[in-house]
Amino acid sequence: MGRLFDFMLPEAKSPTADSTDALFHFINEVSFILLLGITISIIYFAIKYRRKSDNDVTPVIKHNTAIEITWSIIPLILSLIVFTWGYSGYLNLKSVPDNAYEIKVSAFKWGWNFEYSNGAVSPAELHVPAGRPIKLVMQSRDIIHSFFVPEYRIKQDVLPNRYTYVWFSANEPGESHIFCAEYCGTNHSAMLAKVVAHDPDDFETWLATSNTGTSDDPVEHGKSLLTLNGCQSCHSVDGSKGIGPTLKGIWGHEVTLTNGSTVTVDENYIRESILDPQAKIVKGYELVPMTSFMGILDDKEIDSIIEYIKTLK
Ligand code: CUA
Repeated sequence: MGRLFDFMLPEAKSPTADSTDALFHFINEVSFILLLGITISIIYFAIKYRRKSDNDVTPVIKHNTAIEITWSIIPLILSLIVFTWGYSGYLNLKSVPDNAYEIKVSAFKWGWNFEYSNGAVSPAELHVPAGRPIKLVMQSRDIIHSFFVPEYRIKQDVLPNRYTYVWFSANEPGESHIFCAEYCGTNHSAMLAKVVAHDPDDFETWLATSNTGTSDDPVEHGKSLLTLNGCQSCHSVDGSKGIGPTLKGIWGHEVTLTNGSTVTVDENYIRESILDPQAKIVKGYELVPMTSFMGILDDKEIDSIIEYIKTLK
């Protein structure tokens, strides 16, 4: 409350934020005091010991044990305080409480999906019950991203082929921004999502009524797969120009490829473009390579996507 560098921090919404912020303030305030002391000394000495005449000679300075011990011991104590404080905070952030509620996080170029124990999936919104520790088990589908929620004071890299973890707890219901904090290409700055913290009862209601991402209708299934996989961050479904070609009106039509040849958009072309996107790139879209969905989408899912694309006339 009322600390010198409070203006640099966003609102704190997690109980673990207190120790992070206290250390942040300690380091900044100590640095500020040292900066003031050093600046004042420099100005004072520069005036006091300035060259006063042409014959002024700099005295030969001998060893001063008292001063040398002082300027070694004080920084040593300060750095040990920072280390101990920082390490205990690090351990706290790394030790997930036993009763934590687990949610799976999937990062991709360029978005976030959150998957819950009952199979519900929410793209771009992380729903959590307030007042309870939340453990996030995170993985990336393509390259390195970083899960960053400033208001909860958590940041953790998200990698392909490896799980990483982070935990936090929401003090009360409300919304917070999620950012990607690792440069990951063209739309890195738009790789946003939000945390929605609910009253525990409201959270149960939300969970019970949310979309589990599966549907018997292939067109509906294909449509939700496009959302869950973030396809629309590059491929629009309304004809507008994006990083990749729009999916509207392509079915059954010819497209020109980078080598000048043409291909008709049919089942095989869509399937190949999902599993091996570099094989036949539409002219003008060679700059940003698409990630392969080999091993991510199965045949039935690809069928559903094809059915959905057929309807985008
Ligand atoms: Cu993902 Cu930056």
